[in-house]
Amino acid sequence: MLDKNVQIFDTTLRDGEQVPGCKLNTEQKLIIAEQLDLLGVDIIEAGFPVSSPGDFKSVEAISKLIKHATVCGLTRSVENDIKVAAEALKYAKKPRIHTGIGTSDSHIKFKFKSNQADILKRAFEAVKYAKSFVEDVEFYAEDAGRTDNEYLARVCETVIKAGATVLNIPDTTGYCLPHEYGAKIKYLRENVRGIEKAVLSCHCHNDLGLATANSIEGVINGARQIECTINGIGERAGNTALEEVVMILKQHPYLKLDTNIKTEMLYGISHLVSDSMGIYTQPNKAIVGANAFAHSSGIHQDGVIKNRETYEIIDPKDVGVTESSIVLTARSGRAALAYRAKNIGYELTKLQLDEIYSNFLDFADKKKEVDDSDIHQIIESSIVYKEIISA
Ligand code: KIV
Ligand code: ZN
Repeated sequence: MLDKNVQIFDTTLRDGEQVPGCKLNTEQKLIIAEQLDLLGVDIIEAGFPVSSPGDFKSVEAISKLIKHATVCGLTRSVENDIKVAAEALKYAKKPRIHTGIGTSDSHIKFKFKSNQADILKRAFEAVKYAKSFVEDVEFYAEDAGRTDNEYLARVCETVIKAGATVLNIPDTTGYCLPHEYGAKIKYLRENVRGIEKAVLSCHCHNDLGLATANSIEGVINGARQIECTINGIGERAGNTALEEVVMILKQHPYLKLDTNIKTEMLYGISHLVSDSMGIYTQPNKAIVGANAFAHSSGIHQDGVIKNRETYEIIDPKDVGVTESSIVLTARSGRAALAYRAKNIGYELTKLQLDEIYSNFLDFADKKKEVDDSDIHQIIESSIVYKEIISA
């Protein structure tokens, strides 16, 4: 019987930090790691310790700092990588080594100039060696998205025998369609001997904009860990966005899948990551974009003012946004203007609103967005101003 809890494995500080120009120093990584721990992520992938002395130092410092989450370090299936990762993780309360190797035909042929049997052997040895340092060993079958399911199942069986506790099935190139990725997870659950001893993990890239959909199909089909990053940052088009998968599971309770994430922290941590990395979040980004709870057309504004749920499926407070915003533009209607005018102290009658609304439209045609000081100016210069303030 599968648990209803989906483990959230955050890789902002590893896959996320691989974005060109987004390098963080140890201080910045510590601040983010501490916030991730408070957010409630189950695993923090802190870095790739063998890759540089700076990354080693960061993983070690994060291991010392983190109170609740498992701290994880990435390695290749190379002895020295694993030894160095174990050293960097030695102060962690809950250490995990994340080792693995490419399993698709193209990785085996072009990257390793090898064959399937040799890759199986290397995978087994890497996990066995990692187990000599820590109990918790996750194995990634790189490019699993394009790996033949039968061979992938043999890889999984082999690393479970070596002691792997988590099996990461990355769609490294973001190629899979959601139903294919879901079917892959289902196939592994049904065909890998010993699968009940390990957790299946989704690690999806966003090259075709499907990372979130693929991860959700993965957990629907029996995976119980999602690897993701804040704001979906990561190699190329990025990784699965943490805030998206968490809110999908929360907003669809009939899926009976849950996470430990304190969703009210999502907006704050999204800003922390984009400010620290100097990477701008698109305004229409789901959940955390500047426009995610902004309404600007008259029809929508009228609905939201009457009842927020007409055009919003998430209460903004649930993700740490104080309130929905009614943005005034030339597409806004009377209801929105009256609402915003009331917020700054003007209670308008229907006739007064008619008068001010036509001045507002002239103004809004010249300016993209009308702010509070503009509303004051429009009302103060109207012929009904005296009547409004003497009421
Ligand atoms: O995308 C990928 O395959 C990875 C692995 C190294 C886990 O990031
Ligand atoms: Zn990745």
